[in-house]
Amino acid sequence: MAIVPARDANVRAAGALIRAGGLVAFPTETVYGLGADATQGEAVARIFAAKGRPRFNPLIVHVAHFEQADSLADLSGMARGLAQRFWPGPLSLVLPRRAGSGLSDLVTAGLDTVALRMPAHPVALGLIAASQRPLAAPSANRSGHVSPTCAAHVEGDLGDKVAMILDGGDTRHGLESTVVRVLDRQIMLLRAGAITAAQLTEATGKPVVRALEGGNAPSSPGQLASHYAPRARVRINVTAPEPGEALIAFGPSVPRHDGPVDNLSAKGDLIEAAARLFGALRRLDQSGAPGIAVMPIPSDGLGEAINDRLRRAAAPRSS
Ligand code: TXA
Ligand code: MG
Repeated sequence: MAIVPARDANVRAAGALIRAGGLVAFPTETVYGLGADATQGEAVARIFAAKGRPRFNPLIVHVAHFEQADSLADLSGMARGLAQRFWPGPLSLVLPRRAGSGLSDLVTAGLDTVALRMPAHPVALGLIAASQRPLAAPSANRSGHVSPTCAAHVEGDLGDKVAMILDGGDTRHGLESTVVRVLDRQIMLLRAGAITAAQLTEATGKPVVRALEGGNAPSSPGQLASHYAPRARVRINVTAPEPGEALIAFGPSVPRHDGPVDNLSAKGDLIEAAARLFGALRRLDQSGAPGIAVMPIPSDGLGEAINDRLRRAAAPRSS
């Protein structure tokens, strides 16, 4: 029922749904994406809720033209060359995020980099144009399931969670985009995908290093992003904050406290809390408080990913 043919009138309606903060599944040349406005934190939080992802990985942001990419990130040097060669197409570039980009902190998991890609599928490009927004879009499947290559797969996994599924037939590649970070003299492969390492080397004359191989490289691409870690000491599940600490609160009843307080959601809404989490960590870290105390946050729904992020912020660090 949520599936509609990807004709113009439906793409325009889908664009309006995106602007209103909704989720729309759409075809790309790689796999179907679960799209939301990358500038609305709560819309991005709904992506994680719908997928049932236990973690906040940074998401790929999809753009329709180079001016839009330039407004979001610093696309210069070899990265621009790669974009000119492979966009629109299945290459995602991890780039320095531009100040004032308007992107939600959740879409980049609090990082100062953002992964951008310009998809080649006309329906994807049409949806971005119709919404006039950059689209955050991971694959449109439940966490742990395989990526969908047709609209029926999406409906089976997420049919009750999306406002609309635009049916554009089977996807061409059936394999996600290649994710790279451009370094000074080489290209770091963060996720192998539809564009091969040989194609990247052929286009640039530079070697491709695989971040996934050897030594103590992290096992999952999501972990490669050096996650935003606050300078302040973080304590979780705190009911009585110490004087001088900053406090991340949740819900309507907040303990009396002298230091800076940031309530993630006074009404106790986990979607709102997820949207505000990285911004709150950053703000309170910058307040100069030596420590950040975090009130207990329920672990159902998005609470699982929120608590995962907080646990890692609170874990002792070696460096
Ligand atoms: O083919 C695709 O790329 C599909 C279709 C829908 O376009 N999208 C997709 O998006 O797979 P997503 O959000 O699931 O991809 C996330 C990948 C992860 O490997 C993540 O670690 C990496 O991109 N990534 C995103 N932002 C990053 C960043 N700032 N730094 C490092 N890696 C990043
Ligand atoms: Mg996926």
